[in-house]
Amino acid sequence: MPKLTDRFGRTIDYLRLSVTDRCDLRCTYCMPEGFHDFETPDHWLSFDEIERVVAAFGRLGVSRVRLTGGEPLVRKGLPELAARLGELAEIDDLSLSTNAVQLARHAEALHAAGVRRLNVSLDTLDPARFAAITKGKLEKVIDGLMAAKAAGFAPIKINMVVMKGVNDDEVEAMVDFCLEHGFTLRFIETMPMGETGQAASDTYLDLREVRARLEQRFELLPGVMPGGGPARYVQVAGSDLKIGFITPISQHFCESCNRVRLSVDGTLYLCLGQEHHLGLREPLRAGVSDAGLEALIREAIELKPERHEFQDHPGQVVRFMSMTGG
Ligand code: 5AD
Ligand code: SF4
Repeated sequence: MPKLTDRFGRTIDYLRLSVTDRCDLRCTYCMPEGFHDFETPDHWLSFDEIERVVAAFGRLGVSRVRLTGGEPLVRKGLPELAARLGELAEIDDLSLSTNAVQLARHAEALHAAGVRRLNVSLDTLDPARFAAITKGKLEKVIDGLMAAKAAGFAPIKINMVVMKGVNDDEVEAMVDFCLEHGFTLRFIETMPMGETGQAASDTYLDLREVRARLEQRFELLPGVMPGGGPARYVQVAGSDLKIGFITPISQHFCESCNRVRLSVDGTLYLCLGQEHHLGLREPLRAGVSDAGLEALIREAIELKPERHEFQDHPGQVVRFMSMTGG
């Protein structure tokens, strides 16, 4: 198997693919409420173009692809795209990150297309609070989650951005919810992405505090399931529940970063917390060869920075999370 490695010896085997920068929610920490400055449709990579790029990554050693947004289910025909990517020989792990608002309608088609692992953003179980954080309806998300469970997705992971004074009183309730439904739970620290993320930094909470609090109620066994990603997992003793802590701020994990991100306009971003990037849309539309495309991807990987600087330079990343998909 070929390997894509960067200047710091990290192997890149994971591509996060943003299929749209639009979203049907407006989470306070992500997108400003009146935001309309989206990528124009003629800049969106077509399914053919996406397939070409993913195939090139596959030939270079990337075997895992996650569909992200914005909200990926806003992109028309997503299950069709998923099926096409699932058929690529090199891609053996296809996953989806979603807010689940439209998941009930698409769960079966996505599962049939070969998507297996699902991450769902859910910060609260209280409908009024959900509306305040996202401007959406909690009920749809719960319906989506239940449909996903019925369709056979596994694992289903709940991603909760824990915010001081906003939803930090719900961490125990979320543990109970995940215990009840067999979901994996992951807590995430707020990141200063774009103006919205920087404003939300007021509610930043060090997840070590959350973990200490949970230890009052649960016995947490350390060191389980070293996944392919940044979460550090513990297991709740006496249950199957795994809880992950994603701590980009308090304990960054850049030294083991294994991923790059492709935005809907065909820009490769090499780090969530930095602006380093390389555009693939123009070469694609100018008829670049497969070998040329692979050379461009290798060139981009050379630009991957050593680490984010969320703490030292929190104003640095101007794009919102929705533009590169978390
Ligand atoms: N900090 C942390 N997580 C964020 N997300 C969006 N904006 C931020 C931010 N500023 C997360 C969402 C979801 C995914 C789309 O990214 O909660 O899990
Ligand atoms: Fe949409 Fe996710 Fe951003 Fe919320 S966090 S606005 S669901 S992209």
